[in-house]
Amino acid sequence: MKSLNVGLIGYQFMGRAHSNAWRQVDKFFSLPVKPVLHTICGRDAQRVEAAARQLGWQKTATRWQDVVSDPEIDIIDISTANDTHAEIAIAAAKAGKSILCEKPLARNVREAEAMLAAVKKAGVVHMICHNYRRIPAIAQAKKMIAAGDLGRIFHYRARYLQDWIVDPDFPLVWRLQGKLAGSGAHGDINAHIIDLGRHLVGELVEVCGHLETFIKERPLPGSKGRKGRVTVDDAAVTLGRFKNGALCNLEASRFALGRKNHLQLEINGSKGSLVFDLEDMNRLKFFDNADPSDRQGYRDILVTEPVHPYAGAWWPPGHILGYEHTFVHTVFDFLKAVAKGRPVEPSFAEGLQNQRVLAAIEKSSTTRRWVKIPR
Ligand SMILES: NC(=O)c1ccc[n+]([C@@H]2O[C@H](COP(=O)([O-])OP(=O)(O)OC[C@H]3O[C@@H](n4cnc5c(N)ncnc54)[C@H](O)[C@@H]3O)[C@@H](O)[C@H]2O)c1
Repeated sequence: MKSLNVGLIGYQFMGRAHSNAWRQVDKFFSLPVKPVLHTICGRDAQRVEAAARQLGWQKTATRWQDVVSDPEIDIIDISTANDTHAEIAIAAAKAGKSILCEKPLARNVREAEAMLAAVKKAGVVHMICHNYRRIPAIAQAKKMIAAGDLGRIFHYRARYLQDWIVDPDFPLVWRLQGKLAGSGAHGDINAHIIDLGRHLVGELVEVCGHLETFIKERPLPGSKGRKGRVTVDDAAVTLGRFKNGALCNLEASRFALGRKNHLQLEINGSKGSLVFDLEDMNRLKFFDNADPSDRQGYRDILVTEPVHPYAGAWWPPGHILGYEHTFVHTVFDFLKAVAKGRPVEPSFAEGLQNQRVLAAIEKSSTTRRWVKIPR
């Protein structure tokens, strides 16, 4: 069987999640190719060596340029901070590599456009890692909506809440610096619920949003008490309208005490409703208006049957899946596409459209007006 050598850039949170996915995928899913954990890259030689040993990579590198130009590497996996995505992806495309890139695709629309142009020009396979699309319950929701089970969609309502920076003494890490992150809760977690809305309901045509920064200054990492300015949002609220007439209502915040990684969504249609909660991610709640009125109510679908998307590759029904499996499913679909030289969703084109939505919400927040989303 043909092997595909993977070069992973970044070894912390997403680096660990992606390493696990590359390691697991062919143990559970049948693939026409075998992924090889070839090289892992990080700037600190000692730490990247330790990461390679722990995560199962054959080689290490301290410069991403060396990984991208290595003729042995077939796939570049970009799991670094947002300021590096465009430069690495454009170089990887020029070198003819297939690319999996973490979200948000870039810091802004201009970078995302350049990334899409580069992968199109090079004719390489490209994918943005919106892993939540591949939660079995979300994939099942997509199937049900496509089959018309919800009828005409009226509402998409979603919230993605965390609380890790409520403490004003939390340091000014890269995620809180505009020049490194692009935006705050907006590009980090609002991007996920925007992507899920576009995936499940359709294209957004216009938005009205507000971004807020509650804590304006924070301690600089490693400095004794010196503070720097926070240059991203802490929270974002959005109203929107989809092309099919449905309404969109989003809330993303890093200031929701008690909420660690709380992603909930509800979709209401003319025939039924769906509810999903990431903290109970093996379940999908479905209200079917066709049920007899004396027994109506939300039914609780345990999405672990072999007929459910991805679930059959794992364990017997009822043996639940978790966060890490969403990355395994993502690299499974990505590898199938690479093996066949075919496109895969969500591509960089989807990443760019998400970026346009993010930018339109930012513009609305500054101009205090509704903003149309270009396509
Ligand atoms: N799909 C998801 O659900 C999800 C979740 C978390 C983060 N992310 C995204 O993944 C990316 C990484 O986030 P994270 O949480 O892993 O951050 P992190 O801070 O934990 O890790 C960032 C990594 O980038 C590396 N890095 C930064 N600049 C580099 C450079 N020039 N060369 C080599 N390595 C470099 C760091 O060494 C580190 O390994 C971000 O784009 C983030 O938005 C996605």
